[in-house]
Amino acid sequence: MGKVRLGILVSGSGSNLQSIIDRIEAGALDAEIVVVVSNEPEAYGLVRAEKHGLKRALVNHREFGSREAFDRRLVEVLEAHGVELVVLAGFMRLITPLMIEAFPGRIMNIHPALLPSFPGTHVWQDQVDYGVKFGGCTVHFVDEGTDTGPIIIQAVVPVLDDDTAETLAARILKQEHRTYPAAIQLFAEGRLKIEGRRVRVMPLDRSRDEAFLTNPVVPQT
Ligand code: GAR
Repeated sequence: MGKVRLGILVSGSGSNLQSIIDRIEAGALDAEIVVVVSNEPEAYGLVRAEKHGLKRALVNHREFGSREAFDRRLVEVLEAHGVELVVLAGFMRLITPLMIEAFPGRIMNIHPALLPSFPGTHVWQDQVDYGVKFGGCTVHFVDEGTDTGPIIIQAVVPVLDDDTAETLAARILKQEHRTYPAAIQLFAEGRLKIEGRRVRVMPLDRSRDEAFLTNPVVPQT
């Protein structure tokens, strides 16, 4: 199976980036990270990328006159690296239609709430304040809206009586680290079909594997 070429966009800590790196290094994700892009010079995500020998690019939004000009540069960088799937991993800039047109159905985002509840920012405190009993995370394809695109996978966690924004964020983050690599793997396997608002997950096509079946089992290359 060919590896999907990922361009990962970060703004901060990059723990989701790390979870994707770890899965790839464990041989459990059919993807390669061809570039990590940050809009923040101090993002720890860039340090993580460097530690793993990944290509890095800084596209500082402050150096651009408009969101479109910033996005045009992002698209240039991603296309120059032959990116097939754009992965927003704690990327805290709103993207414009320009990006979506360049990568139709090929931009994913992770959001720390059960969309469509609690889009936007400050979502951990909002979940605690609202008194919901369950929170979670959502991986979705990106469309023109904010956190509105077709949903690929969600994970649920309880919201406990003594939770603060911090304790809830930590509980949700653990699930983010499981769900994002899983969503990317489904994409890599060609199993995600966008039908309007819905994402259908197609069954795994084993016919190719069966052609290589041996007894005793030998590693498939
Ligand atoms: C994650 O919780 C992610 O869901 C959230 O920012 C955090 C980034 O953490 N993203 C958003 O809120 C996007 N609107 P990380 O840098 O450690 O991956």
